[in-house]
Amino acid sequence: MPFKLEDFHGKHPFPPSEKKPTLITRDKIVTFAYGNKPHLDFNWLFVSTDKLHVGIYQIPPGGRFEPSDVHAGDELYYILKGTLTMFNPETGDVHKVSKGEVLLIPKDGWHQGHNFTDEVVTILFAIAPLMWDPEKGPPLEFPGKPKLYKVP
Ligand SMILES: [Fe+2]
Repeated sequence: MPFKLEDFHGKHPFPPSEKKPTLITRDKIVTFAYGNKPHLDFNWLFVSTDKLHVGIYQIPPGGRFEPSDVHAGDELYYILKGTLTMFNPETGDVHKVSKGEVLLIPKDGWHQGHNFTDEVVTILFAIAPLMWDPEKGPPLEFPGKPKLYKVP
């Protein structure tokens, strides 16, 4: 399911001018598959305001998201299930993050999540203040040649 940035970014469940305490019922959760390659990163987006973006996503065994992502804000991961291998194509850095562990990805940090295990990995993410630059939207591809993995 391709998506356009303007579909929800910064205005789910309401635009900034209409903020109020709100119950996000299941029918209000936005679902989308990230990326322009075979969709292997499925998202449940809870909120996307002008200041905060929170949801969960899953990568199946052997999957990854494509292209690598980069945000206009800091991102925090909390692994709910499984083990994620996070690769930075700009630096070659790799972090293996397992259930109960936390990963911080500062603004402008390129990242690509891989699942090298045989179970689904489920990740809670929070990004503030902006998920993507409103002018550019999500990245279409990583510019340049990715670095090789630096295995920890
Ligand atoms: Fe991200």
